[in-house]
Amino acid sequence: MTASTHTGVGSVFLIGATGGVGQHVVRLLREQEHRVSGLHRQPSQATAIEATGAMAVRGDLVDDSAQTLAAAMAGHDAVVFTAGAGGNPDMVTAIDERGAMKAADAAALAGVRRFVLVSVFMDAWRGEKSPGPGFERYMEAKRAADVHLSGTELDWLIIRPGTLTDDPGTGRVDAGVAITYGDIPRADVAAAIAHAVFAPQLNRLAIEITTGSQPIDAALSAIRSGPWQPGL
Ligand SMILES: NC(=O)c1ccc[n+]([C@@H]2O[C@H](COP(=O)([O-])OP(=O)(O)OC[C@H]3O[C@@H](n4cnc5c(N)ncnc54)[C@H](OP(=O)(O)O)[C@@H]3O)[C@@H](O)[C@H]2O)c1
Repeated sequence: MTASTHTGVGSVFLIGATGGVGQHVVRLLREQEHRVSGLHRQPSQATAIEATGAMAVRGDLVDDSAQTLAAAMAGHDAVVFTAGAGGNPDMVTAIDERGAMKAADAAALAGVRRFVLVSVFMDAWRGEKSPGPGFERYMEAKRAADVHLSGTELDWLIIRPGTLTDDPGTGRVDAGVAITYGDIPRADVAAAIAHAVFAPQLNRLAIEITTGSQPIDAALSAIRSGPWQPGL
């Protein structure tokens, strides 16, 4: 693995930089002038990452240890995880479950406190609509990763998108701790991540997001968690 370290505005270590959501995230974070290190597996993927001004970091969630990933993450302000098995049921446990857990452990080892995980809207394709046991295993794996991350001391944020599409982003979403299930373009998930990654109020929360009616920044800014004041 080739490690990279950034200093300055905000630096993000992105796992899944070559994926559907991840490519949008790289572009948007670079447009916001954040520094980005994009993890990739194939040497041929480096050029597209570097064309955005991001650093290309060679590595693999399965082959690399948490210590190796931690060495690459060190010095960044946040880790964003948009990786996934990409519909390959044989890799779901290794990527969506153990890979996400390993990445969270690596962030803790590296002292990178902020960790944004793309999970899944747990209502997606359930019951009669479920494509089958492989999909149910995928949902279990995502849940297990959420459980692991939420049990860490990190400043975590779990984002649960509805079913992803490659439609153009609309810039409008519904978002909250509990909302009605729906679809969402990958571009809008990425825009939500770019908004949320350094949003201090979006901490130690799991939020659901679909296409909706509100501008992304307004929808996310309206989500708040805080201490309840009992009137006793
Ligand atoms: N599909 C849906 O409807 C849906 C709904 C809700 C949430 N999600 C979740 O949303 C996230 C993003 O989805 P997407 O469609 O944008 O994903 P995607 O296009 O399938 O991208 C997956 C990314 O993970 C990377 N990856 C896979 N195995 C890896 C490994 N061993 N080491 C390092 N990186 C690895 C891929 O790299 P390569 O380019 O090397 O393959 C790619 O960058 C995923 O976590 C997915 O589970 C999906």
